[in-house]
Amino acid sequence: MIPVITIDGPSGAGKGTVARLVAQQLGWHLLDSGALYRLTALAGIDRGFDLNDEVAVASCARALAVAFRIVEDSVVIELDGRDVTTRVRSEEAGMGASAVAALPAVREALFDRQRQFCQAPGLVADGRDMGTTIFPNALVKIFLTASAEARAERRAKQLIQLGESVSLPRLLEDIKARDERDSARSASPLKPADDAILVDSTALSIEQVVACVLSELVAKQQ
Ligand code: C5P
Repeated sequence: MIPVITIDGPSGAGKGTVARLVAQQLGWHLLDSGALYRLTALAGIDRGFDLNDEVAVASCARALAVAFRIVEDSVVIELDGRDVTTRVRSEEAGMGASAVAALPAVREALFDRQRQFCQAPGLVADGRDMGTTIFPNALVKIFLTASAEARAERRAKQLIQLGESVSLPRLLEDIKARDERDSARSASPLKPADDAILVDSTALSIEQVVACVLSELVAKQQ
């Protein structure tokens, strides 16, 4: 069976960076499932759809023309042939993703697409429901958290690097609102799988979290 490591948790916990570094170190494939929800939201916005229109947004999710291309050390994301790497990380895409991710037809439309990322020699998948719904048989399941304050500060740094203006209190409010929406929704709510290992990254460096994930893998492979 192809080994899978799932890394789930709330936004800003460091899942994306940790998943990319673990995948690079192991030479495994990477699934950034949040990007698929962000891209679905952007496709809906670009087509002028109301993001609460479940049928319309699910059709966007099904038809999503996306490409993830690894260029040097980073991933370039294209939507309908256009480079949307920066736009995918914007607050517009993040809030839109959180809205469309609550729609069961959208989650259903993205189910097979996510499973297709599972290819030899292995997959590292990050998101909210990787260990609970998409890859319930994953070899290693991590649930990565951090305090809301630490996550807001990390997000602020990322946005400043992207050249966006930042209000820390507003970011903290947005993070709490998104946590609430992700945890309270009925379709695949954000919660640790029963067999997930909980890791709190508030006081840990990225390198320490990566080391922790790799040591769990070694323990499982023995
Ligand atoms: O991880 P990221 O911040 O890119 O995810 C954006 C949004 O997509 C999250 O707030 C969440 O609502 C949704 N999402 C999800 N299930 C996933 C990945 C992301 O519901 N597996």
